[in-house]
Amino acid sequence: MIDLHCHVHFGVDDGPKTAQEAQDLARALVDEGVTTVACTSHVRPDRRWINDQSVQAANHQRLDELLNQAGIELERVAAAEHYVDPTFMSRVRNHSVVPYGDSKWLLVELNYDAPVPNFLQMMFETRQLGYKVLLAHLERYPWVVDNDDMLDKLTAAGHLIQINLGSLAGAYGRDYKKRARKLVKEGWACVAASDCHHLTDVKPYLIKGKKALRKLVGDAGCQTLLVDNPRAILDDKEPDLIWVR
Ligand SMILES: [Fe+2]
Repeated sequence: MIDLHCHVHFGVDDGPKTAQEAQDLARALVDEGVTTVACTSHVRPDRRWINDQSVQAANHQRLDELLNQAGIELERVAAAEHYVDPTFMSRVRNHSVVPYGDSKWLLVELNYDAPVPNFLQMMFETRQLGYKVLLAHLERYPWVVDNDDMLDKLTAAGHLIQINLGSLAGAYGRDYKKRARKLVKEGWACVAASDCHHLTDVKPYLIKGKKALRKLVGDAGCQTLLVDNPRAILDDKEPDLIWVR
């Protein structure tokens, strides 16, 4: 599995607090078949999680040294989870965002409860500026998922949808589960990821979530959502292997 949404950097947000915790999480990911993980630390100035390019580079180097020393064979890709707040577009315009590795793909998080003003316009401008958008755990935004017209517009504009595996297993409650299942079953979701923050997340999110995904889409669907599409994103392609309805 290539996990495109995971919090492995330590001491930087609500992910692992210590090097030991990060190491334990990384080892558990490997044990569960993760070969590549994107380290998507939060960028949320409102919570004082800055994690700009230079901070992320330092976070990443620190993690590399740790995992190399521990002999943990897990490919790591630097990335970030960009929260769309009033400062988001200025970071895109300044090119101070943190895409996945050498690609132009950005992981973008939205407000859960309320529609983001000018959302489609901002995503359009983000693409105009040379980036591509992967929307994080879309099942958490009822204002998007319950609006098929919005889903149509998003996917038609080339934005891709990531869901959390744990949502499929009911780890965040019934509503998220229902919406995640819709996104998978109707073919909107392109990537499924763990969004693990801690070792204790591995079982409810990753293990149970993969089982739930397999039940829904079988081995071929898992290969698409967990391996092929994530790899295409890291290779800076626009996956056309989206799970078909
Ligand atoms: Fe996250």
